[in-house]
Amino acid sequence: MSRAGRLVGEVLTELAQKVTPGISTAELDEAAERRITAAGGTPAFKGYHGYPATICASINEEVIHGIPSGRRVLQEGDIISIDVGASLDGYYGDSAITLPVGQVSEEAARLLRVTEEALFKAIDRLRPGGRVSDVSHAVQLHVEAFGFSVVREFVGHGIGQQMHEEPQVPNYGEPGRGPRLAEGMVLAIEPMVNAGRPAVKVLADGWTAVTRDKSLSAHFEHTVAVTSGAPWILTSREVPVAARK
Ligand code: MF3
Ligand code: CO
Repeated sequence: MSRAGRLVGEVLTELAQKVTPGISTAELDEAAERRITAAGGTPAFKGYHGYPATICASINEEVIHGIPSGRRVLQEGDIISIDVGASLDGYYGDSAITLPVGQVSEEAARLLRVTEEALFKAIDRLRPGGRVSDVSHAVQLHVEAFGFSVVREFVGHGIGQQMHEEPQVPNYGEPGRGPRLAEGMVLAIEPMVNAGRPAVKVLADGWTAVTRDKSLSAHFEHTVAVTSGAPWILTSREVPVAARK
């Protein structure tokens, strides 16, 4: 899982360097597929319930599952969530990052910062003896303290020899509920956070989830292992702080 996770982290590092006004989401998708297959891996999303691409590329009010297209060209001031999954030697890695395109609004920059912070607050709770909803609660507490809202309809998940395994990991809820965390468990934690109201809907393409109120949305995800000590982030990446705002 460490090797699959590292590959996903490398893909996101490469794509983050490519994010700039004028590039299309199809170009990002092609670069991701090239990198994964060159490393001997397989894109995890392509063909999953019929999903047509290697990455999900979700711009502005798109929450998750945006389908890459040559007609979607990034513009100054956009924010873009890039979600990548790959399998390597039978194990999966899954990770997402949301990036500013050029200069973005104060609100957009704050949304990105708070969502990434919420992911790391959640990762901090991944300790043996804790419970899954401790992770969920940590996300909700941080996000709502800044006046943003947590998406309810989509959740994080266990991950291993399948991309989606038990348990589900919601991004809201009371602490102390759900399965107990134990050494060796690996979870994909993925807060999806809206600047406005929490409600989302899926567009007619059957995939793209957008905010109902058209507010901006951000998404960060890491694949993380529970150990006897500190949580082990398997999908670490090197995205310059400047690129994150
Ligand atoms: N990271 C997302 C997830 O955990 C990506 C799934 S996209 C799909 O569900 F196309 F594969 F569904
Ligand atoms: Co996931």
